[in-house]
Amino acid sequence: MGEAAQSSPGELVCVTGANGFLASCLVKCLLERGYYVRATVRDPGNADKVSHLLRLPGASERLELREADLLTEGSFDDVVRGCRGVFHTASPVTAFTVDPEVLEMIAPAVNGTLNVLKSCAKAPSVRRVVLTSSTSAIRFMPEMPFNSVLDDTSWSSEDFCRKYKMWYYLAKTVAERRAWEFAEKNNLDLVTVLPSFVVGPVLPKNLSSTALDVLGLLKGTLCDAKKFSIYPRMGYVHVEDVALAHILVMEAPGARGRYICSSTVMDNDKLGELLAMRYPQFKVPTKFPESYKSKYYTLDTSKLEKLGLKFRSVEDMFDDCLENFYHRGLFSLTDTLY
Ligand SMILES: NC(=O)c1ccc[n+]([C@@H]2O[C@H](COP(=O)([O-])OP(=O)(O)OC[C@H]3O[C@@H](n4cnc5c(N)ncnc54)[C@H](OP(=O)(O)O)[C@@H]3O)[C@@H](O)[C@H]2O)c1
Repeated sequence: MGEAAQSSPGELVCVTGANGFLASCLVKCLLERGYYVRATVRDPGNADKVSHLLRLPGASERLELREADLLTEGSFDDVVRGCRGVFHTASPVTAFTVDPEVLEMIAPAVNGTLNVLKSCAKAPSVRRVVLTSSTSAIRFMPEMPFNSVLDDTSWSSEDFCRKYKMWYYLAKTVAERRAWEFAEKNNLDLVTVLPSFVVGPVLPKNLSSTALDVLGLLKGTLCDAKKFSIYPRMGYVHVEDVALAHILVMEAPGARGRYICSSTVMDNDKLGELLAMRYPQFKVPTKFPESYKSKYYTLDTSKLEKLGLKFRSVEDMFDDCLENFYHRGLFSLTDTLY
């Protein structure tokens, strides 16, 4: 613990859920910095899910794929053994789910996180674990005062999330809380990163659930109904800044506690206006249902800024995301790039 806790380039680190949107970018950044990466996926034989990782620069020399499932106890024991740092990003990500308590959301998020942490606690080589939480774990509470500044002391209310069946938000909140309890009891050096809504280029073959939300927003298919509107006021953050944040808190000897990771926080209407002006070729909605309006709040990101992170703008993250969507052929040829 303490000053010796950081990992450095040249060392072996583990990334769970490595084929995901965020984790793929994290693996890319780690390889670029010279790390050896042990990457866990559920099915290393699934080319659709892993081939983009195998093609990354440095992968043939320094990337190792391992199979592990969050729901299998002990699945991560072998995987984390010998690693200096562990980035636990794997978790089911979708705002909509039918059988929340057991199946899709809460069990893998909460029990899965504990499984990974238990394996880390048994591995003497592991000096620090960085857990990907979410601003979902801090911004849902019944009585949030207008103009709140949410910081690393803020927590979403589990009762409030249950009452409104916000299962993803509940899962992230409970998973992070249990992680802190476990780390304290087991003297594990844990740091958490809490990204807001992540936007940017998508490396995996298939779009992640949040990338599909962005696509729907741009195409105007997400405008009037529930989907994007359930996030009435959101922070947005570039996927590469999130990856960098994970590495910064892993490397910084003095990193402690929770790190909110976000660029600008905006109401949906304002985001819609910005995107509609910037990309007039799309039908980006600028009005969202009143009932979904949320209270004004901001996010205190000073802890990451003090570690040197300069967050990219909302314009930059959407430009980079769109460029990626164009390369994937997701828009017709008549849609010109801004
Ligand atoms: N995207 C955002 O806006 C956002 C914002 C804040 C926080 N986060 C957090 O960032 C992390 C990554 O999210 P993402 O957007 O990159 O999502 P993603 O692309 O859906 O990646 C999720 C990863 O978790 C893995 N996973 C899910 N259930 C699993 C299980 N039972 N066992 C093993 N692996 C499992 C998935 O594997 P499969 O491909 O095999 O399903 C996938 O690799 C999550 O912890 C999420 O809560 C995301």
